[in-house]
Amino acid sequence: MRGVTEADLPELVRVDREAFPDDPYPYFVLRQLYDVHGDRLLVLDDGERLHGYVLFPTVSEGREGRIMSLGVTRDQRGRGHGRRLMLEVLRRMRAEELREVSLTVEPTNAAAIMLYRSIGFTSEDSVRKNYFGPGEDRLVMTLIL
Ligand SMILES: CC(C)(COP(=O)(O)OP(=O)(O)OC[C@H]1O[C@@H](n2cnc3c(N)ncnc32)[C@H](O)[C@@H]1OP(=O)(O)O)[C@@H](O)C(=O)NCCC(=O)NCCS
Repeated sequence: MRGVTEADLPELVRVDREAFPDDPYPYFVLRQLYDVHGDRLLVLDDGERLHGYVLFPTVSEGREGRIMSLGVTRDQRGRGHGRRLMLEVLRRMRAEELREVSLTVEPTNAAAIMLYRSIGFTSEDSVRKNYFGPGEDRLVMTLIL
């Protein structure tokens, strides 16, 4: 696990497309996310390829964290990579003395919801209707750091 570099962008785009085949970020969006939040993006690198990433910017003038994206390539799932990425993000946010971190997740994404619950995220079962546009509901989850 390490911070992202500009040279990682093509690989990052590939990983994002593998992790989110139905709804990947366009290249130019990932490029701009890198430009703005590159210091808050961790990648999993085996020395040859990337296998996952997490993007964790802050909001509210740096007082709160957001998990904006977490993805592990299909062939690498179920090996603890997602949990390791998330635990490292929480460790960093606690060191920065952020007060809470939140995220949104597709309400049917059982794997992600189980992961988030297992590390302390809770939801008030409040699904935000049409959060990502018509028919694209999201469950909001929060963790007090
Ligand atoms: C969600 C995701 C990041 C999990 O990554 P992962 O590396 O496979 O997860 P881990 O191996 O670290 O598993 C951690 C926990 O997640 C949960 N989990 C993972 N896969 C699961 C599955 N198929 N079914 C149910 N729970 C699952 C479990 O609670 C697991 O803990 P356990 O191993 O002690 O049972 C991965 O499935 C993924 O990239 N999915 C596609 C992109 C996505 O949906 N991202 C989240 C957007 S909000």
